[in-house]
Amino acid sequence: MNVITKISDLRQSIGSLKKTGKTIGFVPTMGYLHEGHLTLAKEARNHNEVVVMSIFVNPLQFGPNEDFDRYPRDVERDTELATMSGVDILFIPEVADMYRGSQSVTMRVKERVDVLCGRKRVGHFDGVVTVLAKLFHLVQPTRAYFGQKDAQQVAVVEGMVSDYFFPVEIIRVPTVREEDGLAKSSRNVYLSQEERQVAPILYRSLKEAAKRVEDGERTPSVITGEMYRIIQENTSGTIDYVEVYSYPELEEMKRLEGDIIIAVAVQFQQARLIDNIIISVPPEEDYHV
Ligand code: PAF
Repeated sequence: MNVITKISDLRQSIGSLKKTGKTIGFVPTMGYLHEGHLTLAKEARNHNEVVVMSIFVNPLQFGPNEDFDRYPRDVERDTELATMSGVDILFIPEVADMYRGSQSVTMRVKERVDVLCGRKRVGHFDGVVTVLAKLFHLVQPTRAYFGQKDAQQVAVVEGMVSDYFFPVEIIRVPTVREEDGLAKSSRNVYLSQEERQVAPILYRSLKEAAKRVEDGERTPSVITGEMYRIIQENTSGTIDYVEVYSYPELEEMKRLEGDIIIAVAVQFQQARLIDNIIISVPPEEDYHV
């Protein structure tokens, strides 16, 4: 595996690769790799001739009170894991190289952001699309891989790619879970022992919601109300949101139909956990036949 830290070196490598016409699978990350990231890398490995992974803790997507300084970092371990997952090029740029001086043009996301995590994380997705625009230009991937756990991020990135004709296919990869259903995340390390035990309730509430929809429930507030009840009864964490939208548009619906996302966020003492499911809801008249 080739570890590259300078943008100029990456440009040279990608330039040579592009001449060979090889497909490039790209896995952008902020490091502290876990099984979720490695699954993305494996997917990229299975469907592309070359795999590029980036590790860059992007300051632009952290709010003033968020955990940029505290965000876990372990480049040595990440390098080993990336090698084991079949990554060909690991790109680890410096902040000063990615953001040189002031930015004369900035990107602002207008849709799909005032819901779910975006509602409170004002400017977060502006930071995400800004860094991804830079990375997509540098890596020139055929396909880019994102975890469904951050489904709002995938929806926003799909919007950017479609609006600005980025020649890249966005692949949404299902969430990787612990045996008890808890979605894998770098932030799980911040959970206390007791919180870790109750945390799988997020996924259990989502599965219960999916079952309700499968049984014919089509009113969003009934679904979210039931999820609130399940979570509140089973954890000390504070519910940040339980929401249902069309996907990937992330628009409110009066009755559930088509592709929908059911998403939840719960704040524990030191960690805020998110999870979601995306399901396809058949039209009501077909459903009751
Ligand atoms: O999902 C992440 O880790 C980050 O938001 C990403 C896509 C690497 C952009 O910084």
